[in-house]
Amino acid sequence: MNILKFQHEEDFAATGANLIASLLQSNPRAVLGLATGSSPIGVYAKLVEMHRKGMVSFARASSFNLDEYVGLPADHPQSYRSFMNEHLFSHIDIDPARTYIPSGNAADLDAECRAYDKLLEEQGPADLQILGIGSNGHIGFNEPDASLSSGTHVVDLLEETLEANARFFDRLEDVPRQAVTMGIGGILKAKQIVLLVRGEEKAEAVKQALQGPITTQCPASLLQSHPNVVVLLDEGAAKWLK
Ligand code: F6R
Repeated sequence: MNILKFQHEEDFAATGANLIASLLQSNPRAVLGLATGSSPIGVYAKLVEMHRKGMVSFARASSFNLDEYVGLPADHPQSYRSFMNEHLFSHIDIDPARTYIPSGNAADLDAECRAYDKLLEEQGPADLQILGIGSNGHIGFNEPDASLSSGTHVVDLLEETLEANARFFDRLEDVPRQAVTMGIGGILKAKQIVLLVRGEEKAEAVKQALQGPITTQCPASLLQSHPNVVVLLDEGAAKWLK
């Protein structure tokens, strides 16, 4: 693993954005694996800025998002589709038809999961997968458990995840209790993984993920088995690393 620590948010975001921009320069048809949440917002803002300056084009790229809440229509303000439109897709030249996000509102969610895996099989794997980490060690919405699913599946979100994500909703009760998420197998197929983590509240999860035992109780620890992982940390997130 290549672990990089940053003092300044600006450098953190620029480094993440440059990894994506260089990939697109060498491979304009790159498949990007994308995440939502606070962690990648600065990287997406930087990519939008670079795109406006003519430094990067997404015109021939495609993207696969990790997850989506169950029960929220795509146009709901808190859906991950809305998040991606707001922070990235609406501001760049990516073809919206090639921005894939599982639907959390499909009548048959199991069929939706199988269809997403088929699409990933046909068009993936991601050349570069952006990840954040939950303070409980989740990646995507693969929550700590005795075993983990390989493919895309429906998951019950743990209480700590509902509480962490309540900040985006008016009330805790409004946070959907389930999500559709790519499985660990799908995530680990990416050719390169870029894990973005900021904040001291993630320091323990970072230590367990990067330097603890590989265990399904810390899903991010499975990243230790991947040959090409870059980790970008701010000082808070790196606090407990040896
Ligand atoms: C989001 C996702 C989650 C988040 C994680 C961290 O698509 O898959 O795993 O990356 O919950 O969230 P933030 O960045 O908001 O702390």
